[in-house]
Amino acid sequence: MTFCRITGTGGYLPGAPVSNDDLVARGIQTSDEWIADRTGIRFRHFAADGEQSSDLALHASVRALEAAGRAAADIDLIIVATSTPDQVFPSTACILQNKLGNRAAVAFDVQAVCSGFVYGLTIAEKFIRSGSHKCALVVGAEVFSRILDWEDRGTCVLFGDGAGAVVLEASDEPGILSTALHADGHYHDILSVPGQVCNGAIAGRPLLQMDGQAVFKFAVKVLGDTAQELMSAAGLPVTALDWLVPHQANIRILQSTARRLDLPMEKIIVTVADHGNTSAASVPLALDVAVRDGRIRTGQHVMLEGVGGGFTWGGVLLRF
Ligand code: UT7
Repeated sequence: MTFCRITGTGGYLPGAPVSNDDLVARGIQTSDEWIADRTGIRFRHFAADGEQSSDLALHASVRALEAAGRAAADIDLIIVATSTPDQVFPSTACILQNKLGNRAAVAFDVQAVCSGFVYGLTIAEKFIRSGSHKCALVVGAEVFSRILDWEDRGTCVLFGDGAGAVVLEASDEPGILSTALHADGHYHDILSVPGQVCNGAIAGRPLLQMDGQAVFKFAVKVLGDTAQELMSAAGLPVTALDWLVPHQANIRILQSTARRLDLPMEKIIVTVADHGNTSAASVPLALDVAVRDGRIRTGQHVMLEGVGGGFTWGGVLLRF
């Protein structure tokens, strides 16, 4: 049977870090104390004018390819998870493919908001395990700063821009041990950007809106439930987990998830302080940080988990 393994990771954050005090200086009615206490966020990054998701994705992808020892021409599947695509179409994946100089891969976007990366990774796993493809590039890339309402201090302080990427390859040994994806569109309106392009104009409101407390409760429940589901599908106890790499939205969500799972916070990779919430990019960015600083090592059990608009949620358990 063909399995698959992550063979390289890469990340990219545009520009200089923007602090909470920088947001206050820009006129947002908030404070470093409120943001840090309620969310754990201290910094985020914003793309420059004209810098698109595909540009951030390109930097992260080049780094992941280098880490995997692969050339762009080796890739036969490109999946980009994004809610902030460069254009309505073609897909950001096709734009990235062109920037990489690859002309042979299958390329498409996945839209599952902050769960997009784990959706993309799971789809890539199915392609590779079927034997149809051998070497996938899975990317989460976002310019969420473009869809924020800067008059809404309850949301604009939370998000940042960035991209993370992995190379996923066919392997004789796992690799990915279990996957779980879920969605419940009944909750579509607790986190949304309800605008659309219509007859050459924007119809509806093209800015992010959120019921923060409903999202918070939902996230804690499903991150805990999905972790249990992934471990039992692999026949492993939660104590066998070396690292949990969850979606980075709020440190309090991560602390509550740790308590639900009886998992020490030391086993959770936390980047929300430095990255803010980068939606589909948050999980691969956090993974890349912990791989490059030497915490995540070959042979360890690592769980990636996403949760976001839709509502969507899911995860991937792997032996790294
Ligand atoms: O990718 C998934 C996306 N999102 C999330 O995971 C977010 C999940 N939710 C959360 O993280 C939290 O609900 C928030 C951080 C968004 C909000 O925290 P909260 O503890 O639920 O605060 P709240 O919305 O109940 O607001 C409490 C107070 C309000 O003032 P009053 O009415 O009590 O006087 C807000 O107006 O805090 C005020 N407030 C702020 N004050 C300073 C809201 N935003 C800010 C702000 N600075 N940025």
